[in-house]
Amino acid sequence: MISAPILDTRFRLTETVALDLAKSYGTPLYVVDETHFRQRIQTYLTAFRTAYPRSEISYASKANSTLALVKMAYQEGCTIDVASEGEFRVALAAGVPGNKCHLHGNNKQIEELQFALANDIGHIVADSFEEIEMLNDIVTPEQRKSTKIVLRLAPGVDPVTHAKISTGQADTKFGFNIADGSAEKAAARCLELALNLYGFHCHVGSQLLDPEAQRSGGELIAKFAVDIKEKHGYTVQYLNVGGGLGVAYTSGDQPMGMAEYCRLIVQAVVSALEGSGIDPILGQEPGRSLTAESGVTLYRVGVMKTVPSKALGQRTYVGVDGGLSDNPRPALYGSKYTVERVVPATSADSETKNMTVSGKHCETDKLFDETPLPADLKVGDLIQVLCTGAYNSSMASNYNRYPRPATALIRKDGTHTLIQRRDSWEEMLAREIVPTDLG
Ligand code: LLP
Repeated sequence: MISAPILDTRFRLTETVALDLAKSYGTPLYVVDETHFRQRIQTYLTAFRTAYPRSEISYASKANSTLALVKMAYQEGCTIDVASEGEFRVALAAGVPGNKCHLHGNNKQIEELQFALANDIGHIVADSFEEIEMLNDIVTPEQRKSTKIVLRLAPGVDPVTHAKISTGQADTKFGFNIADGSAEKAAARCLELALNLYGFHCHVGSQLLDPEAQRSGGELIAKFAVDIKEKHGYTVQYLNVGGGLGVAYTSGDQPMGMAEYCRLIVQAVVSALEGSGIDPILGQEPGRSLTAESGVTLYRVGVMKTVPSKALGQRTYVGVDGGLSDNPRPALYGSKYTVERVVPATSADSETKNMTVSGKHCETDKLFDETPLPADLKVGDLIQVLCTGAYNSSMASNYNRYPRPATALIRKDGTHTLIQRRDSWEEMLAREIVPTDLG
């Protein structure tokens, strides 16, 4: 049997554009392609709407909360999922109306809830009993009726992904456990307090290439909705099955097609609701699958060093001008990436050799451990790391006091512009306060 070639849907830069970007803005540099990003959103929206017309896609802005991207996601028809007051402020600054956002977060602070209420938040996803009581204490009589509350449920499914991004299992800090009765108690408490209970939510984990956990999470919250209707006479108006599909960091990652994935999730929910008279709006809040593949990071090679290695005999380190502070994912999750030299088409087929790309930080940071690169790679070459549009810029830090990189946007007409500039040295010192007696 001849298997179909895997379609590489990831954005990558051509040599001409990469050289121009590096000259204009320096490296390391995050780059996002506008057309690619807008198309990813449209593909997702179409797939979900086709499978279930009463559907809603919220962009999980934690994946990349650069203002321009949040604005584009809203323009394309997404509502915005914010996980903190900070992300909510970004969405508002991007011109997104408060009621087109929803607020997540575990252990929300009273100030965050007050800010959300004052800015007409679309709905609040409650994560604990304390939060329900806090809301009960602070809502005005009008807000008690108008502010929609969604309960985050822990369906007790174990996803196939990195342990640090698994959240659907029973042993989790997130949400209300269904099996031990907490979820029902939370729903009953909202009803008793006459809070505006709007729906139920689950998010079982991230970077899921196997969608089984999301499918069964959706099924379980739908069954729970049926159960609550039978026991409490409450009909849910909204169900949200959380984050989206995994993406192709390397050619070994093969996410399911969007249309097939949406059909699978919808079918699980719809069959669980069958005959119940419940006809909710169905939501998903993907982050990674909307932005990851639209972005690359551009680095310049500054050092090449071949050293003896117990494991390999010899290892060649390729030192780039960024690292842990602009991409903590390899260190946190052992994430692998596709690294490519930016080369003219003529040298694309040159021999490759495994090399270890290392960052500038004072850590044993094998940024990309033993990855194939052209054997004739040299100091001064530009390399691009694919699929870095999600959870890179938003997780960047100033470790070793490196400025966080700028982000450039490739516009629809092929021109480029900066959408986030690099940290300035002044900004990096702006928070410091030296007690006067230190002289
Ligand atoms: N909804 C909720 C409640 C979430 O917690 C998340 C991600 C999402 C939606 C979006 O999930 P996505 O579609 O992006 O898979 N820093 C980690 C990812 C943490 C994900 C946290 N929650 C990483 O770099 O892999």
